[in-house]
Amino acid sequence: MSERMTIEKVLNKKKQKQKITMLTAYDYSLGSLMDASGVDMVLVGDSVANVVLGLESTRDVGMTEMLHHAKAVRKGVKRALVIGDMPFESYQADTNQSVHNAKRFIEEAGCDAIKLEWFEQCPEVTAKIVQAGIAVMGHVGLTPQRAEEMGGFKVQGKDKESAHQIIEQAKILEQQGCFAVVLECIPTPVAEIITQRLSIPTIGIGAGIHCDGQVLVTHDLLGLSDRFRPKFMKQYVDLKSVVLKGINQFCQEVEKGIFPDESRSYNMNAQELERLKKEEEI
Ligand code: KIV
Repeated sequence: MSERMTIEKVLNKKKQKQKITMLTAYDYSLGSLMDASGVDMVLVGDSVANVVLGLESTRDVGMTEMLHHAKAVRKGVKRALVIGDMPFESYQADTNQSVHNAKRFIEEAGCDAIKLEWFEQCPEVTAKIVQAGIAVMGHVGLTPQRAEEMGGFKVQGKDKESAHQIIEQAKILEQQGCFAVVLECIPTPVAEIITQRLSIPTIGIGAGIHCDGQVLVTHDLLGLSDRFRPKFMKQYVDLKSVVLKGINQFCQEVEKGIFPDESRSYNMNAQELERLKKEEEI
């Protein structure tokens, strides 16, 4: 196993102009593969709602589900940073409760940091969580938990005013102590300005080439999800057909009596078998 990733190393990557990689994972096996691949950060995203739990919205998962998945990922990831995504309503209502919930990701699930999406009171909440000694990753631009209020899953910051607002939000998050910020679905030039202005890394998803790092939902990258494909999404492999091929072959072999063959079956001592047959009157 190569050396463990740290927040400091992530910050250094930006200084040294090395790109940062982040991917989502929701369970032990994918978590282990993340470590084997050498990815820098693993996000236990609330996108688990869509790609694993079959729910309509990321708003539909809560702390119980997120901690359950974060614990499983942590078991598999020994090297990369594990970041727990704060679910909707776990950090918006009450600041003390937000800090308490953030601590649960660290203390109960073993995460290294948490991520939260921008909302009006985000600066105060972020500051409190950072003061409690927890590393925070911000998220601006399109924030899926509030997609409905934003008129759907649309590119944000397309005019001067809204672009300026996103730039300011990112700057505020840096001032409040975030160690990185996700930029989702914003024009490439806006992400470039933010990346130049901030000393902390920007991690883009639909935010163009100039970000310090990139993140994708792993199920999309692997071709395992059927959900809407935004323009920014890139499918690198077609695991769906590989999985279907394996499952179809299993069904056929079982139906034809081919599986399991001798090599995959257990035998028994002949004498013991004779005694058993007698006992069972066979
Ligand atoms: O939940 C998630 O997967 C995310 C990424 C898209 C950044 O927040």
